[in-house]
Amino acid sequence: MNFKRIFVLAITCGLVMGIFAVSFGAEKPVYKDGIDAAFPPFSYIDKNGNPTGFDVEVINWIGKEMGFDVKIVPVDWDAIIPTLKIGNIDLITSGMTINSEREKQVDFTNPYWKINLAVVVREVADKDGNLVPQYNIFSAVTAGKTIGVQRGTTSQTWLQENLIDKGVDIKLKLYDNFLLAIEDLMIGRIDAALIDGPTAQTAIADRNAKIVGTIDTGEIYGYAVRKGDTKLLNLLNEGLKRLQASPEWDRLVNKWLIGG
Ligand code: ARG
Repeated sequence: MNFKRIFVLAITCGLVMGIFAVSFGAEKPVYKDGIDAAFPPFSYIDKNGNPTGFDVEVINWIGKEMGFDVKIVPVDWDAIIPTLKIGNIDLITSGMTINSEREKQVDFTNPYWKINLAVVVREVADKDGNLVPQYNIFSAVTAGKTIGVQRGTTSQTWLQENLIDKGVDIKLKLYDNFLLAIEDLMIGRIDAALIDGPTAQTAIADRNAKIVGTIDTGEIYGYAVRKGDTKLLNLLNEGLKRLQASPEWDRLVNKWLIGG
């Protein structure tokens, strides 16, 4: 090999490395974010087909702040943790309650919201023709009643562990998303539905349905990443911290969780 060839080779290598450096430097990482697309006000698809909601706006803000792009991927709720574990998504931002069962499988960010479970019943006409809730919390959540919940949620485990396992003869009807439960409730196929409070609020807003009580589970929501993905976890926690210290946090809370 003569000097000229070595020189040309060196220049070529240098160029190739330079091109890689430039393109790597310019490109932001893209994280695939799994959501249940039917969980307003936290994550859902709007009329125009765009993902939106509190969690979606939060993650987009954090991505911008911390220098990564977010690709929202709708996933069935009861498959969302397995989908994260096999690597088809990188995080979950969808009103997920932090609990010990899930902590064995995923890592959670710091908590960002707290909820209780709401008991929703439909309204029916009383003898004067006024719309009133069909049951109160006692007559709704009791033996002989059928209660609808989303499959794989804390609503399901709460009813199972606190009532059914203790011998209360309540029937559980499981749905792929909470909206299907509400639809069944409105046509009288189930007696009540048990749903995260903020989501229940959005559901009753345009329906003849009422929240007749809450079960004070005091659940806290967090965002989930794969176990051991400390890089993304740190980005999310730092982003959350910055967001919560900025006026944008109050704006989002008022827009989605309190004002709405
Ligand atoms: N917070 C409850 C849970 O973690 C219900 C969550 C349902 N979220 C959803 N995106 N469908 O089990």
